[in-house]
Amino acid sequence: MTQANALILALAATFAAPAALAADARVPIKLPAYKDGAYVHQAPTLDELMRDESLHPELRKVILKGRDLFENTQQLRGKYVFNDMSCSNCHIGGGGYNWSGPVWPAATTLPDYRGKNGHVNSLEERIAGCFAYSMNGTSPVYGSDEMLALSAYHQWLATKAPVYERKIGGRGFNHLGNKIPEDVSYEAGQSVYRDNCALCHGDDGAGKKVDGKVVFPALWGDTSYNWGAGIARVYTAASFIHLNMPLGKPGSLSEKEAWNVAWYINSQERPQDPRYTGDARETREKHLGFHKHSRYGTEFNGKVLGQHDNTGEKPFLKPESLKSRSFNFD
Ligand code: HEC
Ligand code: HEC
Repeated sequence: MTQANALILALAATFAAPAALAADARVPIKLPAYKDGAYVHQAPTLDELMRDESLHPELRKVILKGRDLFENTQQLRGKYVFNDMSCSNCHIGGGGYNWSGPVWPAATTLPDYRGKNGHVNSLEERIAGCFAYSMNGTSPVYGSDEMLALSAYHQWLATKAPVYERKIGGRGFNHLGNKIPEDVSYEAGQSVYRDNCALCHGDDGAGKKVDGKVVFPALWGDTSYNWGAGIARVYTAASFIHLNMPLGKPGSLSEKEAWNVAWYINSQERPQDPRYTGDARETREKHLGFHKHSRYGTEFNGKVLGQHDNTGEKPFLKPESLKSRSFNFD
């Protein structure tokens, strides 16, 4: 083993909490205040899952498989996943932590209309969305074993949460608000990156692997999330980073540093947005509600970001699961 790899493994062991502990082992950070009247959920722990005698053992098995797919999504690499991500790389605490993109709200608020694709979505379709964008892939078939397992895991995380309650405390990644500061700076972001992030995520943003296994996920380039992913929005990345990174020292960056480094990361190239029309500027305009928060289709260093045919390791642009649909009940 090279010295660099040994260092990476030591770092991984120090900082990356083993999945089994993650639900209870949040590094103490000052969490934002919940809005008045918000429903604040406490996701159940793995321990509770194992001890809950009201669950049929078959259901427990399916939930555990869903959890395993969520934490180790690389087992679907080359089939449904074409980058280095696992769901839990962004949804910290196995998708259970408030303020770090808890995933269970999708189980209690869907089916609902979603602006991103302009129709009523199911839980499976929402999960498929993260496969299409964040995982730069395509989703398991609706109703398949994998989808059932993932859905069961999301629903179990929602245990005892009210259905169609939309005032959910700590949902998403947005505590910094969605207004990019006017003085946001690429250069300042680059130096935050060099000082606090490059050690794990690499100078080239490609993350680190040891013996083919992802230890630190990619932040840009072919093995990262694509241009249509929620975290490609600067405010989403800034909020994620501010509360969760650098790993092991979350909360150590100022808000300004988080904005600058999010701006820097999301100014780098990554796989094409699956909604690409052949022209990034046009695609940006068509999905401006989303892309007004990203740098996609804007000019930077003499180039239009996202103007290319690179889909990363994915051998197609648009996954089947992104088909638009409408309902004709009459
Ligand atoms: C000690 C190693 C380490 C450092 C330092 C670190 N990260 Fe991370 N980062 C990780 C790991 C590991 C994950 C996946 C988290 C998980 O699975 O629980 C991650 C996840 C991420 C993600 C979401 C997943 C992805 O790949 O897009 C972003 C964004 C990110 N880090 C940004 C940053 C930024 C910005 C900094 C510097 C301010 C930083 N990280 C510093 C290890 C690190
Ligand atoms: C690169 C980061 C990233 C990865 C990897 C990722 N997601 Fe997400 N996910 C997001 C972001 C960003 C959002 C939107 C949060 C927001 O609106 O602020 C989101 C939202 C969701 C939601 C909706 C939550 C809600 O509040 O309704 C679900 C469900 C979800 N993801 C499931 C998954 C699953 C399952 C996987 C793995 C197959 C996955 N995600 C992988 C970033 C990621």
